[in-house]
Amino acid sequence: MDRDWLDELLSKTDLVHVASKYVSLTKKGNSYWACCPFHHEKTPSFQINPDKQLYYCYGCHEGGNAITFVKKIESVESGDAIRILADAAHMTVPEFKKDKNSSDIKKKKERLSMLMRDAALHYHDNLRSPSAKIAQQYVKQRQIESMVTKFGIGFSLGRSEMLEFLKGKGYTYAEMKEAGIAEQSADSYYDVFMNRLIIPIINPYGSVVAFGGRLLEKDAKFAKYRNSTQTILFDKSKVLFSLNLVKKKKQRDGIDSIIITEGYMDTISLFKAGFENVVASMGTSLTLEQAKQLKNYTNKIYISYDGDGAGQKATLRGLDILESVGLNVRVVKLPEGLDPDDVIKNYGADGYKDLLSSAVTLTTFKIDTLASSYDFDDPDGKSKFAVEAIKIIKKLDNPVEQEEYIKHIHNLTGYSMAILMKQAELTYEEEIQTQNDTKTTDSLVAAEEFVLASLINEMPFADFAEDVFPHLTSEQAMLAYNLALEKYKNGYTLQSMFNRADGINEEYISKIVNYNFSISDDKKKFDECVSLIKRRSLENQKEKLATQYEQTKDFEILKKLNNVEKQLKQMKKNGGYYG
Ligand code: UTP
Ligand code: MN
Repeated sequence: MDRDWLDELLSKTDLVHVASKYVSLTKKGNSYWACCPFHHEKTPSFQINPDKQLYYCYGCHEGGNAITFVKKIESVESGDAIRILADAAHMTVPEFKKDKNSSDIKKKKERLSMLMRDAALHYHDNLRSPSAKIAQQYVKQRQIESMVTKFGIGFSLGRSEMLEFLKGKGYTYAEMKEAGIAEQSADSYYDVFMNRLIIPIINPYGSVVAFGGRLLEKDAKFAKYRNSTQTILFDKSKVLFSLNLVKKKKQRDGIDSIIITEGYMDTISLFKAGFENVVASMGTSLTLEQAKQLKNYTNKIYISYDGDGAGQKATLRGLDILESVGLNVRVVKLPEGLDPDDVIKNYGADGYKDLLSSAVTLTTFKIDTLASSYDFDDPDGKSKFAVEAIKIIKKLDNPVEQEEYIKHIHNLTGYSMAILMKQAELTYEEEIQTQNDTKTTDSLVAAEEFVLASLINEMPFADFAEDVFPHLTSEQAMLAYNLALEKYKNGYTLQSMFNRADGINEEYISKIVNYNFSISDDKKKFDECVSLIKRRSLENQKEKLATQYEQTKDFEILKKLNNVEKQLKQMKKNGGYYG
């Protein structure tokens, strides 16, 4: 970032003014004093020096300037802290200055934010209306009446009530559609959340970015929840439900951990039971973005997913991501078939607290989950489990820790420590094997990056006709592909990709836009990479379909399997069989 620009921002920013939004300052002599917002205290030791525009706490030794202050207190990265201060100083962050589109996008975002806010307040009011009797009953039956205001819960009074309200406020149908509230069928627009209980999703800055709408009664024709689609305000992979309330809790009392649940109702129920440090991942596996955000708030995470098979699988996927950003992860084991809401209802807040205190580490959780899939009465099952469990332990680099877990396996299986230790040394060869596996995924990822980079940079050898899209390995890659296609069709500049890349991880898009091509890169390499991507994807599909067919003997699956095999053969014949 531009030094001069930052200096200008800091010169236009008054730390005293910024901090006074969060703490109550008292002037003594030449400086200002307050109780430190970064640690607990009763007598003020937090000082601001207005001449130097710096703060320092004599209690916890936190110190810095306006940027570090906002970063810390808002739990955001520097970039966002700078944006917050720039907004307050009416300055434009330079990366966006040149792009005329960015101010349009900003205006649009502001407009849609206003719309969402108006909609949320109106849904909320509707819940009190006499025609919302069934919704009121539902809220009562779920025992969340006292949470209605806290979470801004609301109700949609049918197909068009909300849309008419918004029209009266001057919004167009196009805007309602863009906000994810309205959709068009035949020639009329309707409220996509009609007749549902509304749960607003509010970001840490207090803006309503999306809604979750729950059916009041079970209906096989409709999904239990309908959530906002992706909009310019809402990217599901970046948002955590109720993080706004966690932030408030942190600013008020501090938090020592965050509990992650799967569902809206679990979060609301735990909150009501006094666990205010709770968020919901909204039924999807956690992303790196979410993990990084959480890391800004705490170092310790409790995963509290439903006690069923699906919940546990989702757990395993999300956990590694959390650990990869350095979070200390514990898994709360819920009784089979219960979700956190059920636990609170059946065992109360104390029952849940007990579960929290007996939460296990990621490795223990992995070992226990593995154990539940083997039959220990069968000696073969038991030994296979031990072998697999030891593979999990081998990934830890701390030998003391390893021994702890070997003890755990010893307790589970009854095998002697000596035997298990020996097994731990034996698996070296298998380790080499897994290293090879990661190499093959690395080459696939590299091929994909090269192809996407070539397309987005419009290299002369890059060709959209290759239709690699359905074979891409991640949503990120697919979004990047679409972005490249849009750029190609509309003649957008390469620089503008950063502002158009809604939903794509910044690092990812930057890697692809700034890809380091070498002079030897050519059509041959491009084609080989495309082939590799297609082949791997087809092989994957083949494997999945084959297992599915084996389990179901479903003729439709067999047809699909044959089709995939045919495509693979065709590729081989055409010589497009590299990698
Ligand atoms: P659950 O089915 O466990 O919902 O799905 P829940 O929150 O516990 O709700 P109740 O107690 O049954 O009312 C977990 C989460 O998955 C997402 C929602 O975010 C939900 O909170 N989900 C679930 C959907 O997006 N769509 C669905 O149809 C179902
Ligand atoms: Mn649930």
